[in-house]
Amino acid sequence: MCGIVGILGSKPVAIDLIDALRRLEYRGYDSAGVATVENGHLERRRAEGKLRNLETRLSKEPLEGHTGIGHTRWATHGKPIERNAHPHMSDKVSVVHNGIIENYRDLKAELTAKGHTFASDTDTEAVVHLITDAMQHGCTPVEAVRRSLDRLAGAFALAIIFAGHDDLMIAARQGSPLAIGHGDGEMYLGSDAIALAPFTDRITYLDEGDWAVIKRRSLEIYDRSGKRVERPIVKSAASALLVDKGNHRHFMAKEIHEQPEVISHTLSNYLDMGEGRVNFPDLGVDLSQILRVSISACGTAYYAGLVGKYWIERYARIPVEIDVASEFRYREAPMSPGGLAVFVSQSGETADTLATLRYAKEHGQRIASIVNVRTSTIARESHAVLPILAGPEIGVASTKAFTCQLAVLACLAIALGRARGHIDTAKERELVQALVEVPRHISAMLRDEDKYVDLAHTLSKASDVIYLGRGINYPIALEGALKLKEISYIHAEGYAAGELKHGPIALIDEKVPVVVVTPADELFDKTISNMQEVAARGGQIVMISNADADHAGCKLAAYIPVPDAHPFTNPLIYAVPVQLMAYHTAVQMGTDVDQPRNLAKSVTVE
Ligand code: G6P
Repeated sequence: MCGIVGILGSKPVAIDLIDALRRLEYRGYDSAGVATVENGHLERRRAEGKLRNLETRLSKEPLEGHTGIGHTRWATHGKPIERNAHPHMSDKVSVVHNGIIENYRDLKAELTAKGHTFASDTDTEAVVHLITDAMQHGCTPVEAVRRSLDRLAGAFALAIIFAGHDDLMIAARQGSPLAIGHGDGEMYLGSDAIALAPFTDRITYLDEGDWAVIKRRSLEIYDRSGKRVERPIVKSAASALLVDKGNHRHFMAKEIHEQPEVISHTLSNYLDMGEGRVNFPDLGVDLSQILRVSISACGTAYYAGLVGKYWIERYARIPVEIDVASEFRYREAPMSPGGLAVFVSQSGETADTLATLRYAKEHGQRIASIVNVRTSTIARESHAVLPILAGPEIGVASTKAFTCQLAVLACLAIALGRARGHIDTAKERELVQALVEVPRHISAMLRDEDKYVDLAHTLSKASDVIYLGRGINYPIALEGALKLKEISYIHAEGYAAGELKHGPIALIDEKVPVVVVTPADELFDKTISNMQEVAARGGQIVMISNADADHAGCKLAAYIPVPDAHPFTNPLIYAVPVQLMAYHTAVQMGTDVDQPRNLAKSVTVE
């Protein structure tokens, strides 16, 4: 994900900005840039690729300013090329940004109509022109930013500097973390305290909705309503940490909240959003000739693969065989040559998945791996690697890796469907548009977490919880149950809703919460009937749906509304409420959320 730094220094800051950016490299990035106030005007240097390219650029064309901002960009809107690298700027203002400005298309149209010219494909540039426009109309920098922030929708962190203002930087936080570092006559800003560790350990974290006017000898923080607020200075131990939780209590919470941004990033790697097409890497085989796909994985990655099966069979009409890797590796499955074998693994090191990969390779399969760690063994032994680009996932219970795995599998299904002639241009555009909207829907759900705290009271008292889903959302029921048991230690099982009466219904009584994942899709009425069977036996129903609660036709213990989305993308969207349910329940139970008992993040034994 993008990294932000800023320095109000007492000497030229460009080198220190690079130093701070280097400490954010772990987040992943594909271009970088810095801007400073040079004798009253703004100057920037940007470069594609690694920071050393930016350093080379700076050694040839140095910057001398004492006030500057820097950025490592992880592309979400627009390709990773220099033109899209941050900082973005006008003659008045320079901006670095982490996150997504969801209403940038509307803002861009409005500002273009007013005569502003956009030089990049990014959402960020809308912020530059919005602030510039306000300043052209006589606003001070502070007033211009305040007004502009009111117009921005989405999750973001911003750092802004101004031409003619050597002692001013404005920072804003709405969804993406920001840490302000206090120096001696100097001030610092970073996406996390790790970036600032070489300069200071005295850190003020901005709260959600805060924005700050930073000068060398003063710091004023305002909340969302514009009220001046005080935030404490805390001593950071960041230098000892690998990665930082920011303002989140747990890595898992941070990773859940990163999903809109990381999914955008993943999608930008596999889609041409402008053309409405999938831009899938070459797997080294003619996709139109693939007659059989097999998928193998463990744990959460297996459930991602299960969703992939529904997608590929439905949209590409190719039969898909799927199995957990620990079973696949020993059952001597016949694999006729020429099939595509897909392995899904966050770590890329899971022993069972790796063994299955080797088995499939020996049996003449084309091996594609969907991994988060590109240097992993599974990636190295694959013919084609499909990175999920989720950034480091620290919480043992997988969240953002799951949804990014889904994003890649969705793109694979479209690519296969197109190659096999089952998806035409119009359908492809419809499905791509549906994927592009996923981050916005997830952001909307993440803005409203209170209801999960209430729901956690109910779930934390249960000794068994049942999850039901149908069709493509059945794997989400399985994943929901896995998340809950992993981190809260409450016994939970997911079932296909239609299977309920073949056994699990015997478990239902008034003590058992039943979580029903039921989007208003073609199977909705059938799932609702199953839900009523549960209600008739006194089960406490938790309905997760975009349909109104009154469609349930029975008493609900809780109702989690979900935005309306294309049925194709529902698994990505419904994954988030089940993650939040498990997270808040575990927090209430006081378990070790990030490192639950007995579990490991990377399972390299059988
Ligand atoms: C462990 C982790 C799970 C993960 C599974 C597969 O059980 O706790 O979160 O889903 O391994 O890991 P992989 O790295 O292959 O996705």
